Amino acid sequence: MHSRKIFKYQMRRDNNLLISLPHMRPTSTDDIRKAYLDFFKKEGHAVIPGASLIPENDPTVLFTTAGMHPLVPYLLGETHPAGHRLCDVQKCIRTQDIDEVGDASHLTFFEMLGNWSLGDYFKEGAITMSFTFLTEVLKIPVEMLSVTCFGGDDRFPALPRDAEAAEIWKKIGIPQERIAFMKGGVKESKQNWWGPAGQTGPCGPDTEMFYWIGKGEPKGNPATHEDEWLEIWNDVFMQYNKKTDGTFEPLKQQNVDTGMGLERAAKVLQNVSSVYETDRMKPILDRVMEMADHRDERHLRIIVDHLKAATFIIADGVLPSNVDQGYILRRLVRRAIRSARQLKVEHDGTFTPKVAEAVIAQYGHVYAKLKERQPEILDALKREEEQFGRTLKEGMKQFERAVQETGTQMDGTTVFHLYDTYGFPLELTKELAQEKGLTVDEKGFRTKFEEHQALSRAGAEAKFKGGLQDHSGETTKLHTATHLLDTALRTVLGTHVFQKGSNITAERLRFDFNHPDKMTPEQIKEVEKLVNGAIAADLPVTYHVTTVEGAKKEGAIGVFDARYGAEVKVYRVGPSTSSGRDEWSARPFSLEICGGPHVARTGFLGSFKILKEESSSAGVRRIKAVLEGGAKEITVAQEER
Ligand code: ALA
Repeated sequence: MHSRKIFKYQMRRDNNLLISLPHMRPTSTDDIRKAYLDFFKKEGHAVIPGASLIPENDPTVLFTTAGMHPLVPYLLGETHPAGHRLCDVQKCIRTQDIDEVGDASHLTFFEMLGNWSLGDYFKEGAITMSFTFLTEVLKIPVEMLSVTCFGGDDRFPALPRDAEAAEIWKKIGIPQERIAFMKGGVKESKQNWWGPAGQTGPCGPDTEMFYWIGKGEPKGNPATHEDEWLEIWNDVFMQYNKKTDGTFEPLKQQNVDTGMGLERAAKVLQNVSSVYETDRMKPILDRVMEMADHRDERHLRIIVDHLKAATFIIADGVLPSNVDQGYILRRLVRRAIRSARQLKVEHDGTFTPKVAEAVIAQYGHVYAKLKERQPEILDALKREEEQFGRTLKEGMKQFERAVQETGTQMDGTTVFHLYDTYGFPLELTKELAQEKGLTVDEKGFRTKFEEHQALSRAGAEAKFKGGLQDHSGETTKLHTATHLLDTALRTVLGTHVFQKGSNITAERLRFDFNHPDKMTPEQIKEVEKLVNGAIAADLPVTYHVTTVEGAKKEGAIGVFDARYGAEVKVYRVGPSTSSGRDEWSARPFSLEICGGPHVARTGFLGSFKILKEESSSAGVRRIKAVLEGGAKEITVAQEER
């Protein structure tokens, strides 16, 4: 019996009929990833590599939160070197749902499968491909699916309900009762409207696909049975650009941006009760359970989620600290350790590295950096765990002191101080207080906690000000100035100088580069002079598309991390080779791999000034610089012809 089955399988394979075998659907995480890319490749999409978790040249977000982030310039109309149809797998971090982590489906770190049309196919194409992939490749029975469409927004009559998407779903085979129009729209609830991720940028109505996870036969749709339908995929029809004044203008092109949650797809196809039970997550959960005395599902899941996120963040070059990404990383690790304490896990510096090892064992074959940087990852976690251990000890001293000053109830401010400064969760302080025969003022604690949250929300919102990726004239100018600065530094300090990081806001540029010494005032002056000279010469800026190898041969500088795939854009400052001015074309002022956009001429930039030169970390210097009195209106650099 068994051997006959194998025989049949062989026959089918030889005849290339494998795909028609109903049981041959991909179910493992690895197979789903591959099936997705294979499918969209067949549909004419270029498979591009996913980007780092740390956005480049993007001042407004700490982490890459969706596959579209690294593609914003292209959604706004830049030409992508790989073409108009793209797909990839993108690592994402979303911290806004962190309080939901611990349930069956929310994660801080997840992998997003995405396909994009940059002015190519639109609603019909996107929906048809999504449906075909779900029903023919993943072989999900139509009965298990339901969809939602944009219900329109009364306050924006120009944004009508998306009857077109609903019609397409109906035509393709989704019955009427499984199609819901979601109201709410672009303002508060954002249902069936995606983006912009910041305050400005590409956005549009979306249509979301759901899988039935309720008991018994599928019923209704996500509007009638919200908790029983799990969202697995989102097709966004990005046709608007939200402007700073809050209005929407049509984009140059109609785009499609989709995102499928890989872990959720795996949960559904593997028919398990949570994303933590899927093939690649379960071994990590098991490893944590081996170390834990207590079984508390929520804490176990928090540990898996947070330390998986931390492992990937460190692999992308971040270390725990008190600012920006480093601070989020620190909080993730410490939150995981707090959960570990609740489960009575030893945490003397060996706990978090052990979990990270389990993460690397499951994902290292897909994300090579995890393996390459394994020693650094384990070391960073060990140090953070040890340091947090010392903080907790300090906290115990504080606690003892507070006990001396407490009558019968410890006040909210003290409890919050223990929480905020020493990482003592309310539960822990309560437990300790009880042992001393004391109570704690929980209400007072919560009031303090909420005040604090409102403050950090305000901080986070300030960070988002200006949009997801602000491609205003100001940032475009600063972006071009960064290229000029790069060349000037290499000229003045030497060709050992390489970009280590770049961050641009509408007000200033920040550029990190490797150089052992503090720059002298003369060197700073010289760099400014070179940059301002290039600006005064009003050099043209153009780009051409080539391979990574080609770019290297031309002598282009830049980060050769193959982020844009085999093909890259090389931006040239100085006449293009086709301009006929040989004295320039032989040696442009700057030749640098970059996604753009840039201004069309350096004359737009105004006057360049270095505000600060300081140490960033060992062997790395940091420059902050501004442009003054540049053009109000700019044009952007075009491809060389
Ligand atoms: N960008 C869309 C999302 O994140 C696809 O849901």
